Amino acid sequence: MPRADPFKGSAPQRIFKMTHHKIWDPFVRLFHWSVAAGFIANALLTDDDSKLHEWIGYAVLALVGLRILWGLVGPKRARFSSFFPTKTSVMEQLSDLATRRRKAHLGHTPLGALMIFNLLLSLLAIGLTGWLMTTNTFWGVEWVEDAHEALVTWAEISVVLHIAAVVWESRRTGVNLPQAMITGTKRVPDGVKIVP
Ligand code: HEM
Ligand code: HEM
Repeated sequence: MPRADPFKGSAPQRIFKMTHHKIWDPFVRLFHWSVAAGFIANALLTDDDSKLHEWIGYAVLALVGLRILWGLVGPKRARFSSFFPTKTSVMEQLSDLATRRRKAHLGHTPLGALMIFNLLLSLLAIGLTGWLMTTNTFWGVEWVEDAHEALVTWAEISVVLHIAAVVWESRRTGVNLPQAMITGTKRVPDGVKIVP
């Protein structure tokens, strides 16, 4: 006896076509998830008086140092010059958002890039103030401890906004940005305008 068609009477399947673009090299991806894990560990999990806290902090600092080097000499998509925001590009993205124009940026968006520079600089300053607390000159100096703590709070707020923006932009454009930061490839649905 022939088997019943399981799809009979159901709505037709919608098939989305995607174009694939290799964007993030392995170093950028490894950098991203290691820094994210290190930051979360030190901000929320480690005992801040411990050696573990210091080592994770130094590892994050070293990764940021390498990322800055990579931003100068690495492949095109990793280079700061390829996503450095300008007043014009920021205004254009704001206007796209205000008018709900869907555009997929293959690299970082201008607002995304602003957040990235903010995060990199904040991480550098957190590492620097953390290290200062271990030196004879600044050990026990209150403003250094206060600065370390305030910078971490600033970075935490930034990270929450960063993740919210990533989720928002992924839903808006149909490009799964976290997936691209894992696989390296951005998958852009057909019909969405691409900003190279
Ligand atoms: C689970 C949480 C997180 C998710 C899902 C996430 C996701 C992403 C994604 C999708 C991008 C690329 C955005 C684009 O396509 O333009 C990105 C970039 C970036 N994120 Fe995150 N992020 C997370 C946590 C963090 C944390 C905790 C930090 C640092 C404290 C961080 C720092 C950065 C930096 C520095 C970049 C730029 C990457 C580069 O060009 O090297 N992220 N993130
Ligand atoms: C990802 C980087 C880092 C993060 C997210 C982080 C986070 C924190 C947090 C949340 C505190 C507690 C602040 C408070 O409430 O008083 C703290 C304290 C501290 N951190 Fe870090 N930190 C980082 C890197 C470092 C580094 C690189 C060092 C030194 C090598 C360091 C050394 C310290 C010290 C000495 C304290 C104060 C401990 C005390 O006397 O209470 N941190 N850090």
